[in-house]
Order: sequence, then structure tokens, then C-alpha cells
Amino acid sequence: MRRLNAELLLVLLLFASAGWHLAEAQSSIRSSSGKRWTFGKKANWTALLSEPSAFVYRAALRLKKRKEGFHPSATCGKYMGLMYLDSIRSSRISLCSAGSASSASSAAGGAQQQHRRRALQSSAAADQPLLPSQSSVDCYTAPAVTQGNSSKATVSLCHSRNLVLDTCGFLAARQRGQMSKKFPRPLRGAVRLGGCELANASRLAERDPRLGWLRSMQQAVWWENATRDDAGVAAACTPGSPTLVTTPTLFVLRDRHANYAHEMEVVSMAFSFLAALEPRDVAEQGVQVVIADQAPPTGFLETWARMSQPHRLRLLAQEPFPPGTCFASAYHVYTFAAGIGYNTNPATVKCESPVLQGMSHWLRQLYDEADASARSAPSQASAAAAVAGPATAAAGITGLRVPAGGIVVKNVVWLSRRNLEMVRLLLNASVGWKSMRMVRNEDAVVAGLVAAVQQWNAESCLLRRFDRNVAAEVERSKDHLRPVHGGSAATTTTAAAAATTTAGARKRRGLLGKAWAALASAGRRLLGAAALGNDLDSDSQPQSAVDSGGRRIRQADPDFAGDEEEDGEEEEEAEEEGADVSASQDGGGEGAEAEGEFGGADGTDTVAVGAAVAASTVNRTRPPYMVGGNIIMLSKLWALDKQEEEQQQQSSTARTAASGGAANGPCRPTNVLFKFVDGDFNDAPYSQQLATIFRTGVLAGVHGAGLTHGFFMQPGQGAVLQLLGDSFAQVAANNVFRNMARGLGHHYEDVPYSGVDVDVPQLQAAVKRSMDYVAQQVMEAQERRSGPLRLVLVDQNHFSVVMPPAETCPVLTLQGTATATMSGTGEGQAGPEEGQEVAGEGAR
Ligand SMILES: *[C@@H]1O[C@H](CO)[C@@H](O)[C@H](O)[C@H]1NC(C)=O
Ligand SMILES: *[C@@H]1O[C@H](CO)[C@@H](O)[C@H](O)[C@H]1NC(C)=O
Ligand SMILES: *[C@@H]1O[C@H](CO)[C@@H](O)[C@H](O)[C@H]1NC(C)=O
Ligand SMILES: *[C@@H]1O[C@H](CO)[C@@H](O)[C@H](O)[C@H]1NC(C)=O
Ligand SMILES: *[C@@H]1O[C@H](CO)[C@@H](O)[C@H](O)[C@H]1NC(C)=O
Ligand SMILES: *[C@@H]1O[C@H](CO)[C@@H](O)[C@H](O)[C@H]1NC(C)=O
Repeated sequence: MRRLNAELLLVLLLFASAGWHLAEAQSSIRSSSGKRWTFGKKANWTALLSEPSAFVYRAALRLKKRKEGFHPSATCGKYMGLMYLDSIRSSRISLCSAGSASSASSAAGGAQQQHRRRALQSSAAADQPLLPSQSSVDCYTAPAVTQGNSSKATVSLCHSRNLVLDTCGFLAARQRGQMSKKFPRPLRGAVRLGGCELANASRLAERDPRLGWLRSMQQAVWWENATRDDAGVAAACTPGSPTLVTTPTLFVLRDRHANYAHEMEVVSMAFSFLAALEPRDVAEQGVQVVIADQAPPTGFLETWARMSQPHRLRLLAQEPFPPGTCFASAYHVYTFAAGIGYNTNPATVKCESPVLQGMSHWLRQLYDEADASARSAPSQASAAAAVAGPATAAAGITGLRVPAGGIVVKNVVWLSRRNLEMVRLLLNASVGWKSMRMVRNEDAVVAGLVAAVQQWNAESCLLRRFDRNVAAEVERSKDHLRPVHGGSAATTTTAAAAATTTAGARKRRGLLGKAWAALASAGRRLLGAAALGNDLDSDSQPQSAVDSGGRRIRQADPDFAGDEEEDGEEEEEAEEEGADVSASQDGGGEGAEAEGEFGGADGTDTVAVGAAVAASTVNRTRPPYMVGGNIIMLSKLWALDKQEEEQQQQSSTARTAASGGAANGPCRPTNVLFKFVDGDFNDAPYSQQLATIFRTGVLAGVHGAGLTHGFFMQPGQGAVLQLLGDSFAQVAANNVFRNMARGLGHHYEDVPYSGVDVDVPQLQAAVKRSMDYVAQQVMEAQERRSGPLRLVLVDQNHFSVVMPPAETCPVLTLQGTATATMSGTGEGQAGPEEGQEVAGEGAR
């Protein structure tokens, strides 16, 4: 009867999950250029790296799908939202077009409406092929957060086609000025264009202040000394010419190579530029990044290199192109203090931004760390790499997992720059705002943070239970000593040894029987999962058995599904990991199935089908929060905690504060714990720093200590604390990290202090608020993705039998065998736990 029910349910579930796929597949959104993004299960985010707009629109979709939705103010929408990309697209000024310079000047004076229409037209036209003798230069800017009409805050992004470059002439001289000396001052004719007349950008900017951004470093470097050379361009750019580069090329002028925040700002502009224009050539071929300034290499180049893949990052000064190289399509990026990643405008620094969130996901994807931080097990490939090294993944061995059991551990990172500032101090090179970053009581700060993290963790309901029960468990473990654990067991009584050996044999038989039993549940993952749904239902979880059960089926194992991803990614991962998920789901489902069929909780996890006969007479002590053999439903566990707490409270009020003690008071229901990391990254390579940051929940440090790392934290699941000395609190630049954090959906706080010593108690309080926020967000994301929170243990006793895939062994053939096996195996099914019980008794 139960079997029939299960099959019925299975059919329903099949329909339900098909419907769910359909609904998810319809998660689509139209980009400002009219492109429709649909994030179905086929989405390959690595392949989408050269289409940054996909990341932005997915972020927008996710924000909209949140429980509370996404309702940005008009200002936020315009400066930090999707309209930001719109504005970039419509800011187009043609500096060199076939028509002549007149189009540019008309655009300068033209009405916004006309401007916009023209821009859209030209964007469409930008994908049209040009004659090899025909160059073009289109420049764009972003809605900038200029202070007044300051021309210092400039952003410019240009797209050139059929541009001819002589690298040596380009790099022949320096710009003047301390800050600018790394930028080249090209000789006349080092940059050449053909078939168009170059507009004088300085003159345009003089005539119309709104075009002030044209007078940027970009203008000085790329266009001021460019010349017209029709014949030369035609020759260099003809298809088949040995000097023709057809790969789209991104020329980067980094404003301040050793300033992480400004470096990231340039990245944010490159990202926004590509997201706004959605260039077809880049989408198809990727983009080769060429560093065109002459600043020395830094660790951050790794990010540019990854962006450049599959092409090689090129440092122009180290590796010049041959003279007269033609670039069929080149993108030029420059920004100083106005990029979306470096916003200081008080009106917009608190805006949540799909653009920044898309960028953060994109950055993480560049490092193949898309979502590793909050999940218990990363995607198959990276899980394999994480556990056993890349060679395993390369060998195709998948499904290796960190045995975390579902506890999420997030770092609390203190960013230190003490060692660096010590050197600067000795150089007497520390001036103004740099000196404000020196912290004298850093040891006290670190001690305070360690204490705060420990105190927070100690309030976890899980840790409280652990502390309460650990002594008894360790005591109990002495009854279960087995020879396999070394010689000591052999010195216990012979009776005990004999009993244990029998238990071992029984266990082995049990495992074999278990495998058959698993075969018997031949509905495989689906039937197993159906039974799980059934089980959950009979465990009186009122959620619609079909719907949420259907979801659970695919994701019953938070080890693999306990992730923050939503929308398309969820499906994509479910598919990627399909085989593995199904295998592990069998585990969850299998135990549950035994339960479903034979009516109830058996005390031990691996007691399978045959034991059911015995089970009816056994005192079942499986705690009510357990499902199947190895799944702990946290909500039920926490309900028990709450009950116990209340009982304790009642009895303690009766006894009038007899016990006291720190362990009292309500415990915190969370599966998130924190780990303190002293982030003195002085001697750590950049990628190693990031490896820490990917798993970081709380980032704390003084302004300038590396808070820009926050861009690599999982969007919406982090917190950033900026320590601000009293003089720093006056500086507008302190808004930069508020902008970053709030844009990414992180918790953010300024932590002010005066003098040279950080106020430790204030920092501790802020860190605790941050941990509260992060834990909450991580858990909500997990729940959104994979239903009620669970812990799942996969160890030597609590494991899933590995099954051949359904395609290999069709269900029907196995059904008959299974039934036979079921009735035939009898008590051989006793699981190891039960065997141990027997052994224990024998020893006593
Ligand atoms: C995703 O795309 C990348 C790059 O194009 C490719 O190397 C990889 O094999 C793709 N992954 C899947 C699962 O198709
Ligand atoms: C900035 O430019 C606008 C428009 O050109 C002008 O009206 C305004 O006075 C300028 N503001 C400052 C502070 O120069
Ligand atoms: C333009 O070229 C001339 C000579 O070739 C050079 O002296 C001048 O500095 C260059 N200007 C810029 C902005 O590169
Ligand atoms: C461009 O315009 C500026 C400002 O009007 C002027 O000083 C400069 O000589 C012009 N450059 C060229 C190449 O005409
Ligand atoms: C360090 O520089 C300051 C000015 O910036 C100067 O007054 C001071 O004497 C210098 N100290 C040393 C030890 O050179
Ligand atoms: C089952 O055993 C526990 C203790 O091990 C006991 O408290 C409980 O009363 C028993 N239940 C039944 C139904 O025998």
C-alpha cells in the first residue's frame, strides 16, 4: 500500500518538478539594449564571462525575486541601477566618424531625446562591418558623481575601430606630473585613423561644459596626437594583413596601480562599459586586455589576466606590438574617482546596486569561486579540487566533499597594515591620510575580535548542545572500542572483543544487505526522494508535499545544495551536479523510504528494509529532528532547544537564580559559525588573499587597509566595518566603502575612534552586529535555495550507497529482484549502530 502511494506521489512529483523547471526557465529579463536574458539551467557562467550584462541582469532579477522585492529610489536607479548602463549607452559622442566632426558638435548641443536616439542607432551600427580603410571612435561616459563640474572626476570609455598603433612612438614620452608620470605621451602619428576626421575633444569640451569628461587622461593619451592616415590604415587593416589584430582588445589606463580601490574602480568601469554596450565581438571572442600605462606590475594584474582569458594579458611596455599594428576593434578605458566602484556621493552611496552585485559575481566567477563561500560543498569540479587537488577533478572524479555536515564557517577578517606602515614610518614617507591608518593598539584589537567571535559562536544552539552532551558521548565511546582502533581494544575482555568482531561481521553483512535494499528502492533517486517527501509529510510538515517536496527531492542534501544561488544558477548547478546529487539523495531518501514503508522512525540510520520486522518491537529512540539516516532538520532541533530553554527558565526562576552562568539565556538558532583571521596579508600572494576573502563574512579594517577585498565577498551575505580615526571621518573618500558595501547588499558601519587607539568595545559590538547580519543572510539564502535548513552528515556510517545511473540500469528490471531481496535478507540488515549496541551490551 505504501509502495503504491509512493509511486503515485512519484508521478505527481515528476509533474511538479517539470512544472518547476518551466517556471524557472522563464526567469528572463530584457536588457536596456533589448537583449532578452533567460537564465535557464543551461547557463554556463564561465562561458558568459565575456558578457558582463548577463551578470547584472541576473543580479537585478534576484533582487526583484527577494521576499521584500527591489524598489530603488529614482536617484539610486539612475546612478547605481540598470539605468546607469542606459546612461552609458546614450552618452555616446563620436570623435571620428565618416560623416566628419560635425556629428559630434551637433550631439554636444543636441537635445537629450535626439542624443539618445542617435546613440541607440549607432550602437546597432557599431556591430556593422566597416571597410578596412574606415576608422571610427565613439566615446562614452557614465553618470558621474562629480563634485561641481570638476574635471578631475572623469570617466571615459571609448570604442575605436581600425586603429593603427606604433607602440614605440606611443610609449616614447611621459606625461608630466607626479601622479601622471606613468601615462604615456604619444608622439604625433603613433596613433592613426583613416577615413574619418578626428574631432578636437578639447574644443568640444570648451564649448560645452557637459562634455568636460572628454578632457580626460584618455583624451590626452589616445586622441590628442592621433593623426589621419587613410592609406596606412587601409593597408594595415585589410583582412589577411599580418599586422591586423581581429581579437577585440581592451586598452587599460590604470589610474593608480598601487591603490587597490582605484584599481578596482577601473575594473568597475571596464565591466560597466562592456555590460552597457554588450559588444557582440567581445561576447563571441572574449577580449584581450592590454595594460597601456607604464606602471610596474602588481598583484592585481591577476584579475586583468583572468578577464583577458582565453587571451594572454599583455603589458604593452614589456611586449610592444609590431609597428603599425591595426586593431579591428579596441576598447579604451580610463577612470579617476567617478567610477561606479568608487562613488563618494552621499546621495547614492547607500543604494543597493544590481550593477555592483553583478560585478561581484562576475569577479568571483573569474576566479572560479562563484559561490563557494556559503555553500557547504562547492560545485563538483571545485569540490574535487578543494578536497583532493585539481588532478582529481581533471581525472573526472567528482563528488568529493568537505565533510562539513552542513555547518557554514565564515571568516571574520581583520585587515592589518601594521607591517607596511612600519616601513613607511621609517621612510618618513607617511603623510596626511596615510598616517591616519596607523593603529597602535592592534594587539588589543585582535584579542578583542577573537573574543567577540568566540562569544558569538558560544551562543549557537548547536554549540550549546555540543558542550552539554560531549562528555557523555566521550564516556559512551569507551563502550565501543573496536580492534580497528589499535591495540588497546585487544586488552579489553575477550568477551567484548568477540562481541565487537561479531558486530563487525554483522555490519559488513548489513552493508551488503543495505546495498540490495537500496536496489530494492529501485525508484532510485526519484522514488527515494518521493519517500523522503512522504516522510517529511508524515513528519507533519504541512508544506505541500508535491511542491516543496519536489524541491526537496533535488536538494535534500544541503551538502550539495546548501547554497545561496537562485534563479538560473540554481538549476544549472542542480544539473551540473545532477549525478552526484541523485546519488547522495538516495542516501537521504533511502533511509526515509524504509521509514515510509514500514511506518516510522527507527533508532538507527542504516537499519534498512529487513530490520523493519524487528523495528516494530524495538524502542525507537530516534530524535524527532532526524529524517532518514543522516539528516537533521534544524527547525525541529531548535524548537526542542526552545522548549528546554523555557523549562529551564521556569525551574530556574523557581530556584531563584541558583545557577547563573554565561551558558544560560536563549541560544542562537544558526548553522553559521565564524572564524577569526588575522589578515596581515603582507607576504601573501593576491590569489591567496582572495582564497580567504571568498569565504569571508565580515571584513574589518582602517580605511586603506584593503577593504576593497569586499568586492570579492558573496554579495548580500557580508559585512564591512571601516575604522575611521577622528580626522578621517571628515574625508568624503570614506564613503567609498559604504558605497561598495551597500551596493553589494552587505551590512556596513563606520567605526569611529580618536587618536591612535581603536575603541575595542565599540568594534566588538559592531562585529557582533555584523555576524548577526551575515548569519541571517546566509541562512535565508540557503532556505530560499534548498528549503528548510538541514545538517547532513556523510561519514563512514552515515553514507549513501552509490548507485548506477538510471540510464545504465533501467528501473523495471530491478523491481522484481528488489522485492525478492527485501524479503530474503532479514536480520542481516542490521545496521552498524545496532551492531554496536549489541557489542556494547556484550562488553558489559
Ligand atoms: C562552460 O564554458 C567554459 C568556457 O567556455 C567551458 O570550458 C566549459 O567546459 C563549459 N562548461 C560546461 C559544463 O559546459
Ligand atoms: C557646472 O556646469 C553647469 C552647466 O554647464 C553650470 O550651469 C554650473 O554653474 C556649473 N557649476 C559649477 C560649480 O561650476
Ligand atoms: C604630441 O606629439 C608631440 C611631438 O610629437 C609631443 O611633443 C607632444 O608632447 C605630444 N602631446 C601629447 C599629449 O602626447
Ligand atoms: C584643439 O583645441 C584646443 C582648444 O581649443 C587647441 O588649443 C588645440 O590647438 C586644438 N588642437 C588641434 C590639433 O587643433
Ligand atoms: C620627516 O618629515 C617631516 C616633514 O614631512 C620632517 O619635519 C621631519 O624632520 C622628518 N623626520 C625625519 C627623521 O627625517
Ligand atoms: C524508550 O527508552 C527510553 C530510554 O531509553 C525510555 O525513557 C522510554 O520510556 C522508552 N519508551 C518506550 C515506549 O518504551
